Parts: sequence; structure tokens; C-alpha cells
Amino acid sequence: MEYKIPNHVAIIMDGNGRWAQKRGLKRTKGHQKGAEALKKISEYAYDKKIKVLSVFAFSTENWKRDKEEVDFLMNLFLKAFKENFEAVKKKGVKVIFSGVKDKLSEQVIDSMEKMMQETKNNTNGIFNICLNYGGQDEIINATKKISKDVKEGIIDCNDINPDLFNKYLFNDLPPIDLLIRTSGEYRISNFMLWQMAYAELYFTDTLWPDFDEKQMDKAIEAYNNRDRRFGGVKK
Ligand code: IPE
Ligand code: IPE
Ligand code: MG
Repeated sequence: MEYKIPNHVAIIMDGNGRWAQKRGLKRTKGHQKGAEALKKISEYAYDKKIKVLSVFAFSTENWKRDKEEVDFLMNLFLKAFKENFEAVKKKGVKVIFSGVKDKLSEQVIDSMEKMMQETKNNTNGIFNICLNYGGQDEIINATKKISKDVKEGIIDCNDINPDLFNKYLFNDLPPIDLLIRTSGEYRISNFMLWQMAYAELYFTDTLWPDFDEKQMDKAIEAYNNRDRRFGGVKK
């Protein structure tokens, strides 16, 4: 059987805090290690010819955390964007963001916009960073935009279908083929609800900072052993 590489892989990178706590370190140390893991895994993914990689960096719910942790994460994003940008550009990957700008600092927004602008013509892959992102938020936001366009006569109510709806989301992305969640939690936590409709789900106990190339291979291996029927019947 032919080895299948999933077109769109999405990752809920969870377990940074526990990784640090297990070692008697501050939670923030886990986030730092998590950022290093993401750098490695993203490069590996594009080498493996995965076309779209979506990662959950910060949820709309994560603002509930202590200010110290939130501030650390925001600074880490800035630092990681700066440090890894050249490598991303070299790989020819287009960087996009999903989420809302409110509550993000101007500095973070500027850095995001710079990355998007400077990589917008890249075609080797898409790196979708979900930052200040919520799945329900995304669907509601799309619904509002569609309602407005219907009201203004730009689209007809009867033309609303999954393809059109997809175009109103934060980004018009292909469906997720493989969703990975680390750290032994079996939940979706409001991540990419629309795009996940027919994704294969892969859960591992590995904490995100420990997730490496071997772990990624294991996830793709598991994906290859799945029988995707999309509601049909296997011939
Ligand atoms: C995921 O790790 C990173 C973010 C949510 C930003 P956590 O920080 O949730 O780590 P745990 O779940 O507390 O171990
Ligand atoms: C999901 O992890 C969000 C990110 C990985 C950024 P959380 O740690 O926030 O999710 P819950 O609280 O376990 O559902
Ligand atoms: Mg967590």
C-alpha cells in the first residue's frame, strides 16, 4: 500500500506546564522548550511534504492564566517569530495567522503582519499559527460576515454551502486530515472545529516539549493505518 502523507496536519501542543513541573522548573521553562519542539517539528513536517501545518499557540481561553505566564508567552512569540523567520523564509513557506487581534499588543500584531506580508507569495507550504484563537469564535465571526453580505445582496442565502462558508473563516484552508494532541488529554479544547469535521484524531501521552521527529513519524504511521471512509462503504 502506498504511504500517505496527510495534506493538512493540526497540532494541539499541550503539556508544556506539566513538562516543567515534573522537573521542578517554572511553567515558563516548559513553554520555552515547547517553542524549540515546534521549530524542529515544523521543519520536519515540510521536509516530509506536509502542505499545511496548523498549530495551537494560544487560545482565547488562555487569557485566564496568571499575567506572568501570559506575558511570558507573548514575549516568547515575539522572540520565536524573530529568531525563526529566516528559516521559514528559506523553506518557502507561507505564514498565516488564525485568531483575533483584540488584547494582543501592537508589537505582537506588527510582528505577525510582517511575517504574513513577507511570506505571502511562498508556495512550498502553509504555516497556520492559531494565536488568540477559538473555534467557536471563528464560526461566529464567519456567520456575521456572511449575514452582512446576504443583507447587502453580495451573496444569496441559498448559495451558502460548506465551500462558501470555508471562505469566510479566518483563512480558507483545506480540511484537516490528521489532528495530533499531546499530553494525554482527550479533548479538542475549541480548536479548529469546522476544519476538523473528518480529521483522524491522534492522541499521545507525550508532553509537547518531548514531541520529536520520531513521535511525528508514529503519528503519521497511525494515520496510515486508518481506514478513511467519509461515510461511504469500503470496496
Ligand atoms: C500548552 O501547554 C501551551 C499553551 C496552552 C500555551 P500548557 O501550558 O497547557 O501545559 P499544561 O497543560 O499545563 O501541562
Ligand atoms: C489548548 O491547551 C490550547 C493550546 C495548546 C494553545 P489548554 O491546555 O489550554 O487546554 P485545556 O485547558 O486543557 O482544555
Ligand atoms: Mg494544557
